Amino acid sequence: MANPYIERVLVSEEEIKKTVTRLADQINKDYNGEELLVVVILKGSMIFAADLVKELTMPVTIDFMRASSYRSGTASSGFINIKQDLGTDISGKNVLIIEDIIDSGNTLHKLKELLRERNPKTIRICTLLDKPARRVTPVDVEYSGIAIPDEYVVGYGLDYNEILRNLPYVGVLKREIYE
Ligand code: IMP
Ligand code: MG
Repeated sequence: MANPYIERVLVSEEEIKKTVTRLADQINKDYNGEELLVVVILKGSMIFAADLVKELTMPVTIDFMRASSYRSGTASSGFINIKQDLGTDISGKNVLIIEDIIDSGNTLHKLKELLRERNPKTIRICTLLDKPARRVTPVDVEYSGIAIPDEYVVGYGLDYNEILRNLPYVGVLKREIYE
């Protein structure tokens, strides 16, 4: 049953579940019943966001965005590319950005800046995974799930060339696949 692409499981289904619940509890406590607009960053965050919103207890609305930072090779440049924008006016709203993983920090730093210009009441970030060793641009992350080492991971929404998003766990991709 071993997946031929996966070196090892890094975050199990059980650990993901516990982390989602911990983050949701913290979010529920902090917003104290206030309405929340959840901004799901496609495609990587879809599974995490779907599990997280089920545990939120305030009135929630959901919108989607596709954004990435331009990359040359493995380095992200700091310019953001909005492939699909929100369909909602966020001014005056509590906005929570849901991200799968923060790597260099470039995408989220730029995205937070861009959305802040639209005058939300509050804007915060929630990420499932974080690779702190890779940070180039500092970014304030209010809700952070699990810090992981500098390895390429897939599953639970995260892809390698668009495959492996459907794995129920987060696994380390075999080096021979991308080297
Ligand atoms: P950055 O923080 O601007 O460098 O980019 C973060 C984005 O890069 C994430 O939203 C992912 O789409 C992608 N990414 C970074 N590390 C990984 C990984 O280990 N696996 C899959 N995607 C990753
Ligand atoms: Mg992403």
